[in-house]
Formats: sequence, structure tokens, C-alpha cells
Amino acid sequence: MMEWTDRHCRFFHRLMTRRALLYTEMVTTGAVLHGDRDQLIGFDPFEHPVALQLGGCEPRALGECARIGAELGYDEINLNVGCPSDRVQEGRFGACLMAEPDRVADCVAAMKAQVKVPVTVKCRIGIDEQDPEAALEVFASAVERAGVDALVVHARKAWLKGLSPRQNRDVPPLDHARVHRLKAAHARLPVVLNGGIASVAAAAAHFAQVDGVMMGRAAYQEPWRLLEVDPLVFGAAAPLHAPKEAAQAFIPYIERELARGARLSAITRHMLGLFRGVPGARAFRRHLATHAVKPGAGADVLTAALALVADRVGEPTTAAA
Ligand SMILES: Cc1cc2nc3c(=O)[nH]c(=O)nc-3n(C[C@H](O)[C@H](O)[C@H](O)COP(=O)(O)O)c2cc1C
Repeated sequence: MMEWTDRHCRFFHRLMTRRALLYTEMVTTGAVLHGDRDQLIGFDPFEHPVALQLGGCEPRALGECARIGAELGYDEINLNVGCPSDRVQEGRFGACLMAEPDRVADCVAAMKAQVKVPVTVKCRIGIDEQDPEAALEVFASAVERAGVDALVVHARKAWLKGLSPRQNRDVPPLDHARVHRLKAAHARLPVVLNGGIASVAAAAAHFAQVDGVMMGRAAYQEPWRLLEVDPLVFGAAAPLHAPKEAAQAFIPYIERELARGARLSAITRHMLGLFRGVPGARAFRRHLATHAVKPGAGADVLTAALALVADRVGEPTTAAA
């Protein structure tokens, strides 16, 4: 997620689940080919398994970027066919590619030709006046024929004119059943459901009908939920048991990144929801908001913030904390 799931965020999330697949923000082919590669798509080996999400519409450029990503060690290369922003539409990629299934199929084929790791696509159920029943079927069939390894479907339409990207994540109604039907019609195509999944237990409720679930905002805004992923989804022990443990386990990474010149607030901003609903959560957030932004702020700021908050036991009891 743009501006959210940067490398600091992914490292933090990986402390709480060893098994969930993590995704980068969308990075355009132009940025990968011409930008500062280490800054844009560098990652820590601890982040594995991690997928690189690309934005683009030119098969050759996407093939080249997929190759670069795979050589860097990414475990999956994903193509964004869901972003509705004006900037992305001007580049003729993102969600507007829902109207060009053959082009997306060419992109997938070009990416597949360059890499051995899975090549996946993230799409919507349709755009604008498209009928999701027909449009998603045509789209999925085209990318399946091209050899896509999985399709992640954000289960709502995108409206390319009239709604902001933010509204396009909330206003068009969710239709999980459309994604269930897609999977029923494509037994051999791995289908991952995305959109509006608020908890790991809610994700698990879809596993009879789809092959996986992608959580976006719930995972970012309430990262403590990730502690439930390994036990509830994979039947494995959780790597850590409580949010405070996760925060403490993050400190060596924070110290390393500060020594490399990172600002504390650029890292701790991903932790603000860690204690949502727990007594002291507001004091924790306020302490970080006030002190982590100061020049030269060190990891001791986080330690002091942690002293202000209780540890989480189960679901939040008050939304206001
Ligand atoms: C701040 C923000 C940035 C996002 N950036 C991306 C992105 O780069 N690529 C992408 O495929 N989806 C992006 N999304 C959409 C999410 O991946 C997801 O599809 C959407 O939020 C619905 O899932 P959710 O209800 O679990 O959040 C973004 C969402 C948010 C809130």
C-alpha cells in the first residue's frame, strides 16, 4: 500500500507473522528502470516471503522489471490492475487495464518469460459500467491462459471518474460472493479475496471458497492482528505473543536504521495502531507523535512510549482508547 507498506513496515509486520506473504507498495516500471533501486525496492532478507508489486502496461518494461525484482530475491511479482488514481490513469495502467484483458495477458506472459517465481495480478471485479459477472470472467480467463499464478481480487468496482482513490476503497459496494463464484468457475486458478476483511477470523471464514485472503487496512491500522495469522491460518506457533514483545523485538532494527540515517518517526509511524483499544494506547501514540519527530530522536523514545500502555489481551474493549 502506497506510503504505508514500506520496508520498515514490512520488517515490523514480519516480526508478528512468519508465514503471511507481504507486499511492497506499487512501484512503477519507470521508477524501477530509472530510479534509485535500493531506495525504491531494496528489502531486508528477514521480510521473506515478500512480493514486489509493479505498476505498468508495457509488456517489455514489465518483463524487465520482473526480472530485476526476481534477481533481487522477491518471492513473487505482482501486477497492479486495481489502482484508480488520476496519475495512474494518465499512465494507462492500474484499474483502467480491466478494460484491456488482452494487454494484461501480454504483460503476464512477458513477465512469466523472464522469471521463475510466481507472477500474479491484483484486480477489481470491474470498472465503471462494466458488468462484473462478464468482465471479471473475461479478464480472469485471459490472464489464466497467459499463465498467471494467482489472481488477487479486490471485491469492489473502481469508478475511474468522479471518485477519489480513497472513495474507491469504500464507496463501491463489496461483493465477496462474486469472487467466490470466480473461484468456483476456475478450479485451477488460485484466487485470493481482498476488500473489507477486518480480522484474521473473518479471513479464515472465506477459506472454504477461495485460496487465500489479502488484508490491507486492518493489517496496517491494527498490526497486532498479525500475531493471530500463524496460529489461526497456518496452524503454527506465533513467533511472538503480545504487541509489546513485537515492539521490543523491533528495537534492534530501529537502532540499525537510525544509525543509517533514518528518522525515528518514519519507522514508528507504522506502530501507531499496535495498541488500538488498549488502556494507554492514546498516551503511547501521543508520546510517539510528540517525541519521535524530534531531530536525533532515538529508540529510547519508543521504550518510554511503551511504558505508558498496557499490553493487549484479546479484542479491543473500547474503540476510543
Ligand atoms: C493508503 C493505501 C494505499 C494503497 N496502495 C495500494 C497499492 O500500492 N497497491 C494496491 O494493489 N493496492 C493498494 N491499496 C488498496 C489495498 O491494497 C486494498 O486493495 C484495499 O484497501 C481494500 O482492502 P482492505 O479493505 O483490506 O484495506 C492501498 C490502500 C490504502 C488504504
